[in-house]
Amino acid sequence: MRVLITGVAGFIGSNLAGKFLSNGHSVIGIDKFSDYYSRAQKEFNLSKLISHREFNFIETDLMWAGLEEALKNSDIIFHLAAQPGVLHSWGENFNIYVRNNILATQYLLEILKYHPEKPLIFASSSSVYGNTYHIPMNEENILNPISPYGLTKLTCEKLLELYHGAWGIKYLCLRFFTVFGPGQRPDMAIHKFLKAALHKEKISIYGDGEQRRDFTYIETLTDFLLGIIDNKKWGITLNVGGGKYITVNEAVSMISSIAGKKMDVQYIEKQKGDMNETLADIDRAAELFDYAPSFNIEDGIASQWEWIKNFYA
Ligand SMILES: NC(=O)c1ccc[n+]([C@@H]2O[C@H](COP(=O)([O-])OP(=O)(O)OC[C@H]3O[C@@H](n4cnc5c(N)ncnc54)[C@H](O)[C@@H]3O)[C@@H](O)[C@H]2O)c1
Repeated sequence: MRVLITGVAGFIGSNLAGKFLSNGHSVIGIDKFSDYYSRAQKEFNLSKLISHREFNFIETDLMWAGLEEALKNSDIIFHLAAQPGVLHSWGENFNIYVRNNILATQYLLEILKYHPEKPLIFASSSSVYGNTYHIPMNEENILNPISPYGLTKLTCEKLLELYHGAWGIKYLCLRFFTVFGPGQRPDMAIHKFLKAALHKEKISIYGDGEQRRDFTYIETLTDFLLGIIDNKKWGITLNVGGGKYITVNEAVSMISSIAGKKMDVQYIEKQKGDMNETLADIDRAAELFDYAPSFNIEDGIASQWEWIKNFYA
């Protein structure tokens, strides 16, 4: 199958492209190398893909030239390009989130309405839930994002519903929960903590570290995404999480034992937009797609530790 991945140079996009290529599919990848984090890490992500004969990379902003042609040459679209990160989405940064999340998605949908036979898989986020009183987070929960980033993802979800209703666009809206593993973004906690362990630096934890996170190992996610390309059920929103959670403090002690280093921790003020806990109810994904994540968090962190040592070498 011919797969189009937007945001292909990013953490999830590059791992997903590798997964499709190694399973005999061809990939067209689009990325603009946004400056949210270093171009060097994104080029490192792409370095393992770029020489593959079935990989075609287009460096462009989604809203510039190239998207229409790329769409014509694809059978399915994984739309991962976005401005990620909850904590940075306040203040004047918000316009970057509006542009790269809401406007770019609407632009893509406008082109897709002329190709309604091509399914769109959209990367949404647990951030759409906010601080919910119903844990685990179920797709039927009231959505109450507490960050501007979460709000942009929720708006994208609503746009998918609108274009599905009006133009028959086929979509799956997937809510990801704190994905980790090789290639993880440098602003994400596990990456920051492993890097600090490597360089013997102090780490800062927001609040008391007792906030709980549902961590999803990258390969669990990419295996799931590979498995849904022949899907025939559309117009559905579902959680794709690990289905269990640990506290940030527990994650730090795992990192400490994997890296063999005692972490130097300082606790700092809780950040606005940071959710108290995330936990995916994965029953819908299990029922519709036989989703059954079985990864072990320690093993996932250990493989990310190997990647961190290699990347910063
Ligand atoms: N990593 C997670 O834990 C997580 C959790 C929930 C949701 N998500 C979502 O999954 C997707 C991928 O996340 P990630 O962690 O890989 O992020 P990432 O920042 O590593 O990758 C996103 C990529 O999109 C590109 N991009 C942004 N705007 C673009 C535009 N207008 N045109 C072309 N390229 C553009 C960036 O350059 C970047 O390489 C995002 O939509 C994110 O919101 C991620």
